[in-house]
Amino acid sequence: MNYKIALIRGDGIGPEVVGEAVKVLEAVGQKFGHSFTYEEVLLGGCATDAVGKSYPDGTAEKCRACDAVLLGAVGGPKWGSDKPAEQRPETALLAIRKDLGLYANLRPAVLRPAMADACPLKKETAEKGIDLMMVRELTGGIYFGKRDRYQTEDRGEEATDLMAYSEQEIERIGRRAFELARLRRNKVSSVDKANVLETSRLWREIVHRVHDADYADVELEDLLVDNTAMQLINRPADFDVVVTENMFGDILSDEAAQITGSLGMLASASLGDGVALYEPSHGSAPDIAGRGIANPLAQILSVEMMLRYSFGMGEAADDIRRAVTEVLDAGWRTGDIKDAETPADKVAGTAKMGDLVVEHL
Ligand code: IPM
Ligand code: MG
Repeated sequence: MNYKIALIRGDGIGPEVVGEAVKVLEAVGQKFGHSFTYEEVLLGGCATDAVGKSYPDGTAEKCRACDAVLLGAVGGPKWGSDKPAEQRPETALLAIRKDLGLYANLRPAVLRPAMADACPLKKETAEKGIDLMMVRELTGGIYFGKRDRYQTEDRGEEATDLMAYSEQEIERIGRRAFELARLRRNKVSSVDKANVLETSRLWREIVHRVHDADYADVELEDLLVDNTAMQLINRPADFDVVVTENMFGDILSDEAAQITGSLGMLASASLGDGVALYEPSHGSAPDIAGRGIANPLAQILSVEMMLRYSFGMGEAADDIRRAVTEVLDAGWRTGDIKDAETPADKVAGTAKMGDLVVEHL
């Protein structure tokens, strides 16, 4: 089979890590008898520099014409919040999510045995391991609600961001979470703030309705978002699938990434009903961009998710996962995941790490 992939290299370390992911794709293609062609798509700060806006016209159409989208990272201090919206990379990210209908954002947080020392939690907690899947609603809620800013008569300026959720939006993300749980450890933690927010009360009601009707075999628990923030640190091993609305998911997925101690290794998938987008969970890391030291594993593991979810190539996906595990088990580390015990000759740069994964394929 030939698959066409939209490559959004983006800003900061994006181009460096995407380069390594392409190396791995080529190796996988050879091994499993598939070929990949690439369509370069400009998006983010680099697009602002090139054509004056971060989300050039026709971006969504170009992506829809491909079988999957692989994104590096976008953003950087050069295009900060003082710039007009159409020049900011974040605007482009939100627009592509919305335009491609990518309502389900899957962010696995995994603590691998070889990386146990990188976990910032107590030793007895880390020993139990972490293997959870954050399922974040990605095209609704406060991120896409009506915003306003206006002058009041007596309180100075005021601003509002509206959080809205419809039954239909909650139902489809709930279904995704239950389906995923069935392929994992069969448990869903639904996170809300139902003691305060009306959107959360609707969320809880709909999640339970979907569960009782079609997924009663899956264990379901409700958790308040503040409590979840604590339990992620207290008993992370208990979580399997965590499903939540857009902003709670933004915050909790960073927390979940941090407790694994290896943000540079976490991938993500954004799925809708059409073409899907795969990107690392980390940002563009402008401070280390261009130095050849960024960790490409999150991007490489995004390819793993792409093969699994978009191309149905489970065997090849497993193979990438195995290769990455072997490289880590052999003691190789990039700068972000090395520790005091890592010998200097086992510290790899971006390209070396990509080569090592290819060797192990
Ligand atoms: C993320 C990021 C984005 C978000 C920003 C860059 C708009 O934090 O993907 O988690 O808030 O969704
Ligand atoms: Mg975020």
